[in-house]
Amino acid sequence: MKRPIVMIITLLLLVTICGCAVNRAEEEGIDYMVLVNKLNKLPEDWESKLKTVHFTNSIGEDVEVEEKAYEAYQKLKKDLEAEGIYVDLDSARRSIEAQQQIVDDFTAEYGAEYTAKVVAVPGYSEHHTGLALDLYLIVDGKDIIYNEDLVTYPEIWEAIHAKLAQYGFILRYLEGKEHITGYAYEPWHIRYIDDPEAAKEIMDKGMTFEGYLGAVNETDVTLDCGSSELYTEEEIDEVITLIKCRFASWKDCELHSITYAGDEASAEGLEYINSLDENSQYSRCMELLMDFHSPKEESGSFEPDYEYENYQWYVGLNEKDEWDIVSWGY
Ligand code: DAL
Ligand code: ZN
Repeated sequence: MKRPIVMIITLLLLVTICGCAVNRAEEEGIDYMVLVNKLNKLPEDWESKLKTVHFTNSIGEDVEVEEKAYEAYQKLKKDLEAEGIYVDLDSARRSIEAQQQIVDDFTAEYGAEYTAKVVAVPGYSEHHTGLALDLYLIVDGKDIIYNEDLVTYPEIWEAIHAKLAQYGFILRYLEGKEHITGYAYEPWHIRYIDDPEAAKEIMDKGMTFEGYLGAVNETDVTLDCGSSELYTEEEIDEVITLIKCRFASWKDCELHSITYAGDEASAEGLEYINSLDENSQYSRCMELLMDFHSPKEESGSFEPDYEYENYQWYVGLNEKDEWDIVSWGY
């Protein structure tokens, strides 16, 4: 007589335990440490777990942010205001379509190489996560929105960056680390990681998120602009950044140095790059030499675990006055 009762209780217990497990799975939130970059796509199930809030910024645009990141941003903003620094959000979460629109607009205006240096391919933008926030500044009551204007306030950015970690944010695209992050320096692009302690370590050490997560080995890179009568140091620097941004998509490769190959080599290179395609009309050429280490494992593209030295890069100035990476190899 007692058996059915025991079975019913057991069944009820099982249903309760399973129910709890299902609820927990349903409630499982996003991974605040997610890595989205040129090599790592937004996880498939991201949208189903993401909870966001919307608000209207000072220029009347709707901005969508992951809810905890928004809460932390509000605290950061208040703290900055107490020091007379005023910020707002230009862009946070973006859909795949919105990202594609940005790629199209930038490509039309600045060309493909520059766009690859500053805008992610749809699906590979950290902005899809809702955890990446682009700040803009309000200086003397004026909205400073455009990148070229924003970079003219280095002291303000320094003060902002110093406060990021305590609210769980990091600076994502560091100056000089383009070969790891894949993008040029962006003082405005901050990333919420929901862990002030980890954020402090990353910010204090000046690390990339990739380096912190162990996705890449952060090594020092030697850059040598050499001496040139053809190019200014800024021009050579610009091209080096372009190459570093491209290099970041070479999985498991470790960059050691980039050197300007010299005026003579660059002048000879012009003939070479214009001979590669009869439609090419490059007016100038820069040749650079790279030392890097290939992946330890067989990768298909390179000799495994090999130190490539004086690997050649040819970059040409096209008819629209934009630099194109034309050719690379041994
Ligand atoms: N500007 C950053 C890299 C993005 O487009 O996601
Ligand atoms: Zn951004």
